Amino acid sequence: MKGFQQMKVLLVFVLVSLLPLSFAKLRVGFYKASCPQAESIVQQAVQARFGVDKSVTAALGCDASILLDSTGNNQAEKASGPNLTVRGFELIDQIKSQLEVACSQTVSCADIITLATRDAIALAGGPQYNVPTGRRDGLVSQASEVNLPGPTFTVAQARQTFGACGLTLNDMVVLLGGHSVGVAHCSFFQDRLSNFQGTGTPDPTMDQNLVTTLTGTCGSNPNVDPTAFLDQNTSFVLDNQYYNQILSKKGLLQIDQELALDKSSSKMVSNLAANNALFGQSFAKAMIKMGNIQVLEGNAGEIRKNCRVVN
Ligand code: HEM
Ligand SMILES: *[C@@H]1O[C@H](CO)[C@@H](O)[C@H](O)[C@H]1NC(C)=O
Ligand SMILES: *[C@@H]1O[C@H](CO)[C@@H](O)[C@H](O)[C@H]1NC(C)=O
Repeated sequence: MKGFQQMKVLLVFVLVSLLPLSFAKLRVGFYKASCPQAESIVQQAVQARFGVDKSVTAALGCDASILLDSTGNNQAEKASGPNLTVRGFELIDQIKSQLEVACSQTVSCADIITLATRDAIALAGGPQYNVPTGRRDGLVSQASEVNLPGPTFTVAQARQTFGACGLTLNDMVVLLGGHSVGVAHCSFFQDRLSNFQGTGTPDPTMDQNLVTTLTGTCGSNPNVDPTAFLDQNTSFVLDNQYYNQILSKKGLLQIDQELALDKSSSKMVSNLAANNALFGQSFAKAMIKMGNIQVLEGNAGEIRKNCRVVN
């Protein structure tokens, strides 16, 4: 019996130590030998674009918002998917063609997106961090059919969605800090302005001045869908002001506001609101963690020639 146990332990040990061989893991500096210029090419391209368009950070969003807006059949996809993808992808395409010249078929599109997002975050005043690379591109054109959270999800519902991807409530609270930059279309929050949940009145959890401002911004023409900044204070800076905003009832989306009000997340929100350095560190960590979800590594998938289509 004892021998059997030992053999089992040994077997597990051998299996575990073989794993890294069969699945080359993501690591910082994956292209150091195969394409030494990779990270600087990405960085320069993102910097050049940021110089003329600060909304590039939001356009790249982050992996979650790309997922969020490009898959599923929720409202987010219909209203925003094409634009988010298009704005971000123009830059990704440009970087990809530069990289194909420098090191043909070496750097994956998944890594380009990861690196570009990382660089855009730093340019927007967010944390600077090393990010592991070595991802491969999928053989189908969209990653997955996740059940994506909508803007009217409760914290508990959103938590479940993040949890299904291995992300904790803390990760979720920190990652929603991504709403420190970028905009939302009125259609995602208009119900909060006048007829919240069929009450005929605005959402009582939204600051009344903000209700007035946004009512003006959104107007009443059903044929247009204007946008408003998700973070009304420092709209282009990736900082912790988002948390201060939601603490003063100035969250744009219902989920943003709920984050400050829900018992399960309110303490984290006030900690992050009080400490920008804590936010920066936590955001970088959570971005890396999210970037490691469901990645293809080793010989899986491919290195796309064109980021928009499978080879
Ligand atoms: C519960 C989870 C989330 C929900 C329900 C949600 C929902 C939304 C919605 C409805 C919009 C507006 C889209 C539009 O009007 O075009 C938006 C925008 C955005 N989201 Fe999220 N989001 C979530 C998580 C995240 C995460 C984790 C990140 C990044 C770390 C993120 C980054 C962004 C960014 C940067 C924008 C602005 C895009 C732009 O300006 O074009 N979101 N989100
Ligand atoms: C995309 O953006 C353009 C210009 O900002 C806007 O006119 C259009 O309505 C947007 N499309 C969608 C589907 O949101
Ligand atoms: C806006 O952000 C600045 C800079 O972070 C901060 O000092 C200020 O208190 C904020 N103002 C409001 C009204 O939240």
